[in-house]
Amino acid sequence: MEIKNYINSIIEGNCVEMMKQFDDNVIDLTITSPPYDDLRNYNGYVFPFKEIAQELFRITKPGGVVVWVVADATIDATETGTSFKQALYFKDIGFKLHDTMIFRKRNPIPQIYRKRYNNEFEYMFVFSKGIVKTHNPILVDCLHAGLELNGTTYKNYSKNEQVRDKPASPVKDKKIKGNVWEYVVGKKQEDQEAKGHPAPFPCELVRDHILSWTNAGDMVLDPMCGSGTTPRVAYELYRQYIGIDISPEYCEIARKRVKKIEIQPRLAFEY
Ligand SMILES: C[S@@+](CC[C@H](N)C(=O)[O-])C[C@H]1O[C@@H](n2cnc3c(N)ncnc32)[C@H](O)[C@@H]1O
Repeated sequence: MEIKNYINSIIEGNCVEMMKQFDDNVIDLTITSPPYDDLRNYNGYVFPFKEIAQELFRITKPGGVVVWVVADATIDATETGTSFKQALYFKDIGFKLHDTMIFRKRNPIPQIYRKRYNNEFEYMFVFSKGIVKTHNPILVDCLHAGLELNGTTYKNYSKNEQVRDKPASPVKDKKIKGNVWEYVVGKKQEDQEAKGHPAPFPCELVRDHILSWTNAGDMVLDPMCGSGTTPRVAYELYRQYIGIDISPEYCEIARKRVKKIEIQPRLAFEY
């Protein structure tokens, strides 16, 4: 079936079977989080990782991006390393590992003390099919804007001597944001809409990725969309979306969430 039959809808089903029906090279951005290491019980649904990765490669456009948000369980006193194994598998099948980013939770759940520090982050592996075609970098304020600093970067010095051969230019007002992104989880009204799902993304995290890796009108997929955070935010940002989840219950939450946003005036985001 052609992809146009699925555009702007939440589909119930096993994502491998659904993605097999898509044409090649149709998705600009996938942002998703798999059910990792059986950390949570998703009613025992199957999770055929390798097939999912292969289908994602086939359906991603050249230059398109997959953001894979994942963490490891600790079993028998050791982290499983599943995240790294998955990242290397994505590389094996042809994706570039464009960036290993960190999603830091500002309000992590306190864990039982087992001689290790409280875990407060997940990986956000950014894979690309070839060279990334779209990057709209998020900018942040420079702490030392306007100052001419004594400390220096390499380019302020001549090649072999530690002598400044031209005056350092003042620090700019803005710089490109770093690759550790911090969010408060589950507190905002827009995130509370996901109640009923055990592990929703913060909307803000999805928003930052969609703005970074796509332009208006692009096609955004979440093949394990749970409460529908990715479709919801994609719609809000004037992107096309496809959401898939194997659970009828979660699909229902996702559809209600998207419907709610569809009847509101869309926010005037820069896109
Ligand atoms: C970590 S949750 C995703 C949460 C989502 N990011 C959100 O914002 O709500 C993983 C989801 O994968 C779904 N899932 C597990 N196996 C699946 C499969 N084979 N096909 C589609 N969805 C699947 C589960 O039902 C669950 O909702």
